[in-house]
Amino acid sequence: MSLQRAKPTPPNDDKRWKIITATMRRNGYADHALIEALHGVQDAFGYLDEASMRFVAESLDLPLSKVFGVATFYHLFMLKPKGRHACVVCTGTACYIKGAGGLIEDIESRYGVNPGETTPDNALSVLSARCVGACGLAPAVVLDGTVLGKVTGPDLLARLKEIEQ
Ligand code: FES
Repeated sequence: MSLQRAKPTPPNDDKRWKIITATMRRNGYADHALIEALHGVQDAFGYLDEASMRFVAESLDLPLSKVFGVATFYHLFMLKPKGRHACVVCTGTACYIKGAGGLIEDIESRYGVNPGETTPDNALSVLSARCVGACGLAPAVVLDGTVLGKVTGPDLLARLKEIEQ
């Protein structure tokens, strides 16, 4: 009989969870790996939400309260933004080279918000991530959970205008 406990299931089938699971596995699922696991989630998704914290807690066999505690204690972690829409601009190397900086400038000039900020009407939160796992599609943006590839400034502003309706 195996003593291994069942592996928790990631919140969805997004392939970024594979990277995070691999990080936790590399750390032997030790609880000191918590901060690194949370960094992994933030780098891949741009922020931490309840489903991701629950997955990390189950993977590391820690109480959810501890994961929440760490995530809210350290200012380096960004909890799920309060905007009705979330636009995560990937600023990893591949995306940066292909113009992610320009996308951030375009958003800033249209909406007046930078990564980490939400428009005053709470319609849009802008975030950045360090690699959303779609380097072949650089520059990539994740808009309300959907990965958009080879994004240009005009494309992005048009998509944002569409979701505003
Ligand atoms: S660097 Fe942007 S998807 Fe990998």
